[in-house]
Amino acid sequence: MAVLKIARMGHPALMGVARPVSDPTEPGIRRLAQDMLDTMRDAPGIGLAAPQVHVPLRMVIYMVPESRTNDGEGQPLTVLINPEITVLDETTEEGVEGCLSLPGMSGKVARPRHIRVQALDLDGNELDYEAEGFHARVIQHECDHLDGILYPMRMTDLASFGYVEEMTKPSE
Ligand code: NI
Repeated sequence: MAVLKIARMGHPALMGVARPVSDPTEPGIRRLAQDMLDTMRDAPGIGLAAPQVHVPLRMVIYMVPESRTNDGEGQPLTVLINPEITVLDETTEEGVEGCLSLPGMSGKVARPRHIRVQALDLDGNELDYEAEGFHARVIQHECDHLDGILYPMRMTDLASFGYVEEMTKPSE
């Protein structure tokens, strides 16, 4: 088990465009996925992109807990290597996001609600599926990290950006 250090907003590791993984079946890539999982569980969080742990490769992991979806249908732990997103429905939905690179903070981001994802898994198999709602949001958030984009850069109204602890305080 290896818990890796997570870069916080402002660190150059988060700002670049990550490069594609040349061989998803390489043992080093599997080890990285395991370390990313250990790191995500330790944080804890529901998604993590390789650049967040200082590795400039196009790889993300995520899961969707049942409690975070409207239909109660969660998503198991998924590893996406070299993911490509196609927007299937330009209609956007607003939702609150947080990020392990901005600990303790959250903000509202509008994102397309229906996407198609194409990627490779750790065995080099092709993945091709659709995602909607919160599931689609998580994937878009994680894949943004691969292009140096953090969720505040997607926000149109910074009034909803702030520290979770302050926002959930009862009004005084
Ligand atoms: Ni993030």
